[in-house]
Amino acid sequence: MDLKGIILAGGTGSRLMPLTKVTNKHLLPIGDKPMIYYPIEKLISAGIGEILVVTGVEHMGDVVGLLGSGKDFGCRFTYKVQDEAGGIAQALALGENFAAGSTIAVILGDNIFQAGLKEYAEKFEARHNGARILLKKVHDPHRFGVAELADGKVVGIVEKPDKPKSDFAVTGIYFYDSTVFDIIRTLKPSDRGELEITHVNQHYIDKGQMAYDVLEGWWTDAGTFESLKRANELVAKDPPK
Ligand code: DAU
Repeated sequence: MDLKGIILAGGTGSRLMPLTKVTNKHLLPIGDKPMIYYPIEKLISAGIGEILVVTGVEHMGDVVGLLGSGKDFGCRFTYKVQDEAGGIAQALALGENFAAGSTIAVILGDNIFQAGLKEYAEKFEARHNGARILLKKVHDPHRFGVAELADGKVVGIVEKPDKPKSDFAVTGIYFYDSTVFDIIRTLKPSDRGELEITHVNQHYIDKGQMAYDVLEGWWTDAGTFESLKRANELVAKDPPK
């Protein structure tokens, strides 16, 4: 597959202190392996062999020590340091040279889910331009980017809204064409001082170039004590495909 993979594993992990005081959130265990193995395995089983891992400077050594070249996984890893946690879109911008004009599949390193990605990747590749996001119905949409849907289209996304316009969270699984890097260059930091992935997605929506699917199976993030526990329970009960 032409598609390259990017895993964003930076950030401060502040909501999991003190678990994250001396290690990176994505190295914490879920089931019988480190959290970051799950998104890696999803990319590999979708046929993606070139994977960039972005993480902060503090724990890059541990991440490289764990993952190595990719030989043990049957893929090839590239690494990039995000100096400060300036947002998901800022972390993604570091992937421009790696992508080198290819389309990309991006997974947030704390997103754990059951379904395989191959089918979604193939649908995205068939169009080969614009973006594709995966939505999931949740009971607590205010914790996420929330999609507004009309006539079978995503017409807007609001990050952590007080009054969500739907129950559909935007999961941290995104497919983009190479114009994503031009879009990120136009972004300004949000009120919380971050370059927001939601603003990137809104650009594609405004251009009429955003497609979506509803993700099959279970999905959770693992960035809070509650969701980390839930991820462990889901993985034990119904292991990812
Ligand atoms: O999990 C899905 C949600 O992820 C989406 O619905 C939201 O739209 C999106 O903004 C994001 O929300 P969170 O508030 O949960 O993002 P968080 O800051 O926890 O970051 C999620 C992952 O992104 C984290 O595990 C690592 C990566 N990240 C984050 C930041 C802020 C980076 O690599 N660098 C960063 O600077």
